[in-house]
Order: sequence, then structure tokens, then C-alpha cells
Amino acid sequence: MSLKPETNQLLNQLEEKFNKINQDTDVHLEGLLHSKPITYWDYIQTDALLNLQTQRTILPDEMVFIVYHQINELIFKMILWEIEQISFNDNLTTVFFESKLMRISRYFDMLSTSFNIMREGMEVEQYMKFRTTLTPASGFQSAQYRMIEFASTELINLIDYRFRATIDRDTPYEHALEHLYWQAAGKDYKTGKKTSLLSNFEERYKEEFIRFMKKYNTTNLWTRFKELPEEDQKDVDLVKAMRHYDYTVNVTWVMAHYNAANHYLNSGKEKAEATGGSEWAKYMHPKYQRRIFFPELWSKEELDNWGNNV
Ligand code: HEM
Repeated sequence: MSLKPETNQLLNQLEEKFNKINQDTDVHLEGLLHSKPITYWDYIQTDALLNLQTQRTILPDEMVFIVYHQINELIFKMILWEIEQISFNDNLTTVFFESKLMRISRYFDMLSTSFNIMREGMEVEQYMKFRTTLTPASGFQSAQYRMIEFASTELINLIDYRFRATIDRDTPYEHALEHLYWQAAGKDYKTGKKTSLLSNFEERYKEEFIRFMKKYNTTNLWTRFKELPEEDQKDVDLVKAMRHYDYTVNVTWVMAHYNAANHYLNSGKEKAEATGGSEWAKYMHPKYQRRIFFPELWSKEELDNWGNNV
């Protein structure tokens, strides 16, 4: 049988590819003879994916809670994926930076606008029951959420305001981690003792976080932005995109989350305690937390009023 010229060309290209990595092309071609044709369900792994939703109660709305959290984690993964491509790009251009930043922003926009699934999508009565089986766990323990923060901004912007003056680039990472803003949610403010929420989280992720903090110390979105040509850093559309991302993560999403918490935890006669045990009403509001990834891109007035008008 004579082969078409295109087929010969493909075979030559394959030969070249496999020679480069010291592989026998014939063995790989033979492998194709035995390989299974791909299907949607094998490729997407739908069976595995749809078997990851295990309820702890018999309340149907717990399924909404589990699935929506899982969707969030998948989107967090996509966000980290895009940030990594900016952070470790050796030939970073403004066009590339902006296009990835827009992708990241779109993901966070989607997380913010869909948060109603949490607020309106579950019956308060059911939520108040199944949440008791979740104590002392909380979304607070989402490691990917923390990683997005580490990868977005300079570490100093994530340090609790009370300790910022005592921390600089020479501070050991472990010490910085002890003074991150989110420590406040997991410490008894009278005794300073860590709650299970925080100590469980750190036992599982502390070392990973320290490695991650080091990795993004000089490669986070802000440092990479500052490496772009100076006139590009002033580009109106790029600055707008940076501000949009900052605001979406640190005000819009935070408020959507806060409103959902308020809807459930303030629904009864008495205020309910958070499953993680934080003083959530104060801790979670952006006007107290004042988490800002790119403070240089906001005016003094905007910084002073952060989270006030929502
Ligand atoms: C009914 C829905 C939800 C309620 C009532 C709720 C409530 C809370 C509360 C009270 C906290 C404070 C920590 C604590 O004491 O537990 C918290 C933290 C947190 N939750 Fe949620 N949450 C909800 C849904 C979600 C979802 C869908 C996600 C997405 C992964 C999420 C991610 C987080 C994160 C990342 C934190 C830490 C935020 C920070 O440190 O500023 N939560 N949540």
C-alpha cells in the first residue's frame, strides 16, 4: 500500500520527535494499534467526578453546599493555573499579562455572581441542621484560596495591619505566616490560643504554604506587573483590569460571601456561631479586613473608604 505524501510527512515528523527523546517510533505506532478510542466520559472522568459528593446528612440541600464548594475549588485551580503562566513566563509581554489577567478576573466575576446559589439555593432550616455536622471545618480552610492571595500580591499586603510595621523582606516566612490577617479568625483574641479551625489547617498546610510563599515572593502578579515597561504600567485598560481584579476578589466576592453568611447565621432570634468559630461578622467585612492586593493603584480616598460603600 502506498502512503499519501501527507502521511509520509507525519511519519517523518514522528520519527524526528521520538528520535529526540530516544524512543523507538515503531513501538509507539504499534501502541496506537491497541489503544482504546477516546470517549467523553473517559477523558473528562465524569464517573470519578460525580462520585466525589458524599453527604454527611440526609438533608438534600447539603448536596448544593458540597457541589458548589467543589465548583469553587475547581475554579480556584483554574485561577492558579493562569497566575502560574504569568509568574513563570520568561518573556512576559503586556499583551500576554493582560489576557491572562482578564481570564483570572472572569473566573472571579463568575464566583461572585454565582454566590447566590449559596444564599438563595438552600433552605435556611436545612442549612442550620447540616452545618452542625461540619464543625469545626470551614471554607476558611480552603488552601487554594490562600494560595491565590499569596500569588497575587506582596506578602506585606496580607499581613494583619497591627503587625505591618514590624515585618519586612528580611522577616522569616514562618514569622510572616504567624502574622497573616487570617490568623485573627482562628485565635482566641483574649488568650491568643489557636482554635481547631486554625491549628488543623496549619498542621495540614503550613509547610506547603511556606514553600508557596517563597515561590511567589518575587513572582506574584504585582511584582510581574512592575516588571512591565513603565508606559504599559500606566496603560488605562491594564490599570483598570488590575483594579477590577483587586476589587472583585477583595470587595465583591467578600461581600457576596458575607451576605450569604449573614443570611444564614443571622436568620434566627440569636446570632449563630460560625462553624469555624470566628467572630465572623466583624472578621469577614471588607471595611475591617481591608485586604488590598495592589494598593498603589488606588487613590488615598479610595483606600480610606475601602469596603465602606457596599
Ligand atoms: C452558606 C454558605 C457559606 C457560609 C455561611 C460561610 C460562612 C463562613 C464563615 C462564618 C467564615 C469565617 C470563618 C469561620 O469561623 O468559619 C467563612 C470563611 C471562609 N469561607 Fe465561607 N461560607 C459559605 C460559603 C463559602 C464558599 C462557597 C466558599 C468557597 C470556597 C467559602 C470560602 C471561605 C473562605 C475562603 C473563608 C476565609 C475567608 C477569610 O479568611 O477572609 N465559603 N465562611
